[in-house]
Amino acid sequence: MELSKQFPLQNNNSFNVKSICPAIYFPKTLADLEQLPDLSSYNFYILGDGTNTLFVEQQAPIIIKPEFSGIDILETPERYIVSVGAGEYWHGLVCFCLENGIYGLENLALIPGSVGAAPVQNIGAYGVEFSNFCSHVKWFEFTSQTIKTLSKDECQFSYRNSIFKQDLYNKGIIVEVVFDFPKAWQANLSYAGLSTLDKNSTAKQIMDKVISLRKSKLPDPIKIPNAGSFFKNPVVSEQQFSLLQKMYPNLPFYLQSKGQVKLAAGWLIEQAGLKGYRKNDVGVHEHQALVLVNYKSNNGENIVALAKYVQQKVLTKFNILISPEVRMVTKQGEQDFADLIIDYKCD
Ligand code: EPU
Repeated sequence: MELSKQFPLQNNNSFNVKSICPAIYFPKTLADLEQLPDLSSYNFYILGDGTNTLFVEQQAPIIIKPEFSGIDILETPERYIVSVGAGEYWHGLVCFCLENGIYGLENLALIPGSVGAAPVQNIGAYGVEFSNFCSHVKWFEFTSQTIKTLSKDECQFSYRNSIFKQDLYNKGIIVEVVFDFPKAWQANLSYAGLSTLDKNSTAKQIMDKVISLRKSKLPDPIKIPNAGSFFKNPVVSEQQFSLLQKMYPNLPFYLQSKGQVKLAAGWLIEQAGLKGYRKNDVGVHEHQALVLVNYKSNNGENIVALAKYVQQKVLTKFNILISPEVRMVTKQGEQDFADLIIDYKCD
């Protein structure tokens, strides 16, 4: 298996900050996985394409970067079952499916990242989530050295969450993701931004619209390094929501089950006066306040400092604690954002 020591990660994280890991493994086959050393007493982190990871320090932990490739299609009279290696590029898969007449992922076009990362945080956009089309996930368990199959239910998907971030965290590696696309396809135009499309739109027309929406709002990480939404949209009680709505009648909201309401973190950040804010070569994007961007800092700590500042401003104005979707990684491995102590302030 390919292994590199003292590996610089600047080109392996979409924030483009500097960090070096002591070792990085690139497993591509089951035999490679079996050769991995026992890392249970070390700090390590499983990295996809690095589009949702912030390396906070100049030193990173040991990295495992799965590179399983390949896409297989099984066609039945009613569905397509598509098996995809975890190291494949997500948007490449979306394009491949559409080119082969397999529809469903068009709303998830242009999301940066690898296929193996999609189940971990149950990626979602424009009214669709990964879990809508998940059949099962194949996962290599470190202790038993075997590949297990987890059904969609066993993956415990919820908003930007799954069992891979919870009970199975760092206990194994996703090697393959298996999708189930019914041939009886229906356009999903539920998201407000897609309502201008004709209800008979093709999957290709939806994909083109999603791509143009994303390009208009979200900065291209190649040009302005970023990790998409930095924070998750917060979920509050109906009680807290109705108090807020009285004060802010334009507050965007999405009703959830169990008497809960999801709010738009981007709106809260903009109302806190931070859209376009810039300091220490990092900032809040001028078109989508949920995205923190790196103009030219090499230092992940600057982004953490900005995120703490944004979190504090929103807390002070709305009494809502927004928390990052982006994962924080130090030399000690992944950390809770709350536990990161940063010396300096933005103000
Ligand atoms: N809004 C503002 N100001 C802003 C940003 C948003 O007022 O600066 C308002 C919008 O006008 C709208 C509401 O907030 O009323 C929601 O905004 P938007 O539709 O742009 O979506 P979002 O909730 O900010 C989520 C996902 C995105 C996904 C979009 C579209 C999360 C954390 N983010 O953002 O996902 O593309 O919906 O479905 O759930 C990502 O995860 O990296 C990502 C980009």
